[in-house]
Formats: sequence, structure tokens, C-alpha cells
Amino acid sequence: MARSAIINVMVQAAMKAGRSLARDFGEVQNLQVSLKGPGDYVSQADRKAEEIIYAELSKARPGYSFLMEERGAVEGDDPQHRWIVDPLDGTTNFLHGIPIFSISIALERQGQIVAGVIYNPAMDELYTAERGGGAFMNDRRLRVAARSKLSDAVIGTGVPHLGRGHHGMALIELKNVMGETAGIRRLGSAALDLAYVAAGRMDGFWENWLSPWDIAAGILMVREAGGFCSDGTGGPHMFENGTIVAGNEAIHKALVKTIQRKG
Ligand code: IPD
Ligand code: CA
Ligand code: CA
Ligand code: CA
Repeated sequence: MARSAIINVMVQAAMKAGRSLARDFGEVQNLQVSLKGPGDYVSQADRKAEEIIYAELSKARPGYSFLMEERGAVEGDDPQHRWIVDPLDGTTNFLHGIPIFSISIALERQGQIVAGVIYNPAMDELYTAERGGGAFMNDRRLRVAARSKLSDAVIGTGVPHLGRGHHGMALIELKNVMGETAGIRRLGSAALDLAYVAAGRMDGFWENWLSPWDIAAGILMVREAGGFCSDGTGGPHMFENGTIVAGNEAIHKALVKTIQRKG
């Protein structure tokens, strides 16, 4: 499969940052770690990976704007294009030696996500998607799972840590989804959760209190694999609300209905 120039740029940045993460993962006990808040960690590995991605993308496309987890927003001369970057999605897994973490890079053009790359360096799984061009894992075309009943479905989620609060609401949603599905999974990387939905490994995914860098590439991945993504009401405001629900058409619809039950 021939990749487009823009996907090549993104893949190159993700792979270079991936090599840095893989090295740091090998000696995770020596990393400098700090807390952003209770239960919310950031390490040297996150910052190094972000610097690599920032340098690579700025060199390849000078002037594009950025939204990155650690550095925040960087305004470029070109207001039409914005990179949305999570240099290490799954920091908690990473720091515990769990090989489920990823790099997530998305490109927005005039507010629309047009390209996405998600890379898990520990498993060497590279997910790519371009608007209108389909979604791929290591060059294999992806398709969301076909299961249409929630009772057959395995659904991914994420739950808030110590400092994030809202634990009561998370428990209500968990209880409701638990009562209707074949199983719940908590991978610890929202970008990979969405990539797994695109790959048909999980039938659906939902999570609250996420940021654009967690989900931007994953939204495109799921849609290009034939799936649906929305906020918790079925609407388009995932970045604004921080809630995402994903799956094939039937699972997405059923999941939105289930998590809307507040008791
Ligand atoms: C986190 C991961 C995790 C999700 C958290 C995110 P980070 O991102 O995506 O799965 O449950 O809400 O903050 O901080 O590891 O990049
Ligand atoms: Ca973080
Ligand atoms: Ca993240
Ligand atoms: Ca991160």
C-alpha cells in the first residue's frame, strides 16, 4: 500500500518518538517522574517524545499550529492546519512496565481531522488513517467488528483516577454497561482503545473527561474503519465535552442509550 506524503511525515515522527519511548521503557526505573495532580503522572519520556514529534513535524510542515498535551497550544503562521499530539498516551501503564501505550498524532485542516497515526512501539503496531482513504494497521485494511448486539459485545472504557473525581458517575455507567455486555476492558490508552475498535478487537468504547489529543487520531481511525463516534448524547462535541462513544452503527447507538441512563 502506498502511503500519502502527509501520512509518511506523521509515521516518521511517530516512529522516531517510538524509538525514544522504547529506550526509556527499557529503563523506566531511572526516569524522572513528576505529578501534575493526584494520580496524574508525567515523565521525561513524555517530554522527550513530544520534543521529537514537534521538531519532526515543524521541519516537514513549517508554520502549522500545534496542540500538544505537555507543551499546550503553539500558534503557527498557518491557521488552517493544526497538529494534535499526544506523545505518550498511557503514561501510567508505561511507568508500571505495562506495554500498552501509544503515540497519537492527528492533523486538522480547517477544523476537520484529515489524517491520523497511532503507534504502539512495544507491540510495533502502527495504525494510520486518512479522510476518505480508509484505516490500516501495519498496512492491513481495518474494519470495525460486525457484532450488532450489546449482549455479545466487548466494550472498552477508561475510569477516572484519584484526582479527577466523578467516581460516582463512572460507577453508574460501569454498572449499566456491565449489565448489558459480554465484557468490559480498560486498556489504559484511549488512543489505542479507539484503534482497537477500528481493528474490530473491541466492539465499542466509551470514556469521559478526555482531551482532544487522546481522541483526535482515534476518531478518524474508527470512522475510516466504518464505525461511528460521538459525544455522550450522540452529538459531535467530543473535543468540547471530553466524552466519546465509539462502535459500529448498532453498538454505538446502543451504548449511547445505555450510558445516558443516570441511575
Ligand atoms: C490517559 C489515557 C487513559 C485515559 C486517561 C488519559 P495519558 O492519557 O488515555 O487511558 O483513561 O483519561 O488521560 O495522560 O496517559 O496521556
Ligand atoms: Ca497525561
Ligand atoms: Ca492521553
Ligand atoms: Ca500523554
